[in-house]
Amino acid sequence: MTIDGHIDYISEIKELKEKKNAIILAHYYQTGDIQDIADFVGDSLALSQKAAANDADIILFAGVRFMAETAKILSPSKKVLLPDMNAGCSLADSCSEKEFKKFIKKNPGRTVITYVNTNTDIKALSDIICTSSNAVQIIESLPPDEKIIFAPDRNLGNYIMNKTGRDMVIWKGACHVHEEFSLEAILQLKEDNPEAKIIVHPECELPVRMVSDFIGSTSALLQFTKGDNSQTYIVATEPGIIHQMKRESPSKKFIPAPPRDSTCGCSECNFMKLISIEKIYRCLRDEKPEIVIDSGVIEKAGKPIRRMMEISEKLGL
Ligand code: 13P
Ligand code: SF4
Repeated sequence: MTIDGHIDYISEIKELKEKKNAIILAHYYQTGDIQDIADFVGDSLALSQKAAANDADIILFAGVRFMAETAKILSPSKKVLLPDMNAGCSLADSCSEKEFKKFIKKNPGRTVITYVNTNTDIKALSDIICTSSNAVQIIESLPPDEKIIFAPDRNLGNYIMNKTGRDMVIWKGACHVHEEFSLEAILQLKEDNPEAKIIVHPECELPVRMVSDFIGSTSALLQFTKGDNSQTYIVATEPGIIHQMKRESPSKKFIPAPPRDSTCGCSECNFMKLISIEKIYRCLRDEKPEIVIDSGVIEKAGKPIRRMMEISEKLGL
């Protein structure tokens, strides 16, 4: 269908989805127009759960590569598409297989827990995967004296270690988006909006976490703004989530926390924002780029992911 000679991408996508029995899973950091056409929008944990249980033949993942790979590992018989293969993740890339193997060797006898934001080779070296929604509960589900390696996010690792008091050695990786928030700019915003609550993702640095009123994964932040009675929030995570916050609480005000680098203006994840409506249309039409993973890797990386899913299900997460 065309409008004034232009392709009407939204209706074409709807038609293609129906014809091919495809679903679109979108992360909260995608742009609002993509979230609005998705069949399911969520954080990393909810998206993995949805990827593991659906009747579609094709999953188109509007997110980054490690998320689409996790979907493929959980549903190997389905075709999993990612509209742009360059949609990587600075956090996942901060942990290479070669260096991580050395780190495990240097710290023997520890259970290896890794954040889902990793490449498949790192997952294959792990005992259990976690996301920011279930990391604390997964660690607390282990015996209290169990020694742990946590990778790759140092900020999430420190946050969990302080919360649980567990014996953890932490890999020193980070997300360039969440580490870039400016404490000074956040405090200035708070001075200008004294009634505002500061809400923060645990991938942020300690000084930013210390001035927060609430810390949580993207879905926990969303839930908090729904249930809380404040009218204004300073949001220290990728601003894509504000689309859902405004949807759930239209009368409230959400102010994105600014980054340290004032020349780039906002804290969008450049990888997440590589996905566009036009790329989704082409990807569904051509059924490529497709996520292809070696069956041996699927088996190895699948075990720790399934362990996470089982623990989460038991805990009702
Ligand atoms: P969650 O979806 O677990 O909140 O993770 C945030 C993130 O950085 C995803 O890239
Ligand atoms: Fe990776 Fe950070 Fe982007 Fe999330 S926000 S995909 S952790 S680079």
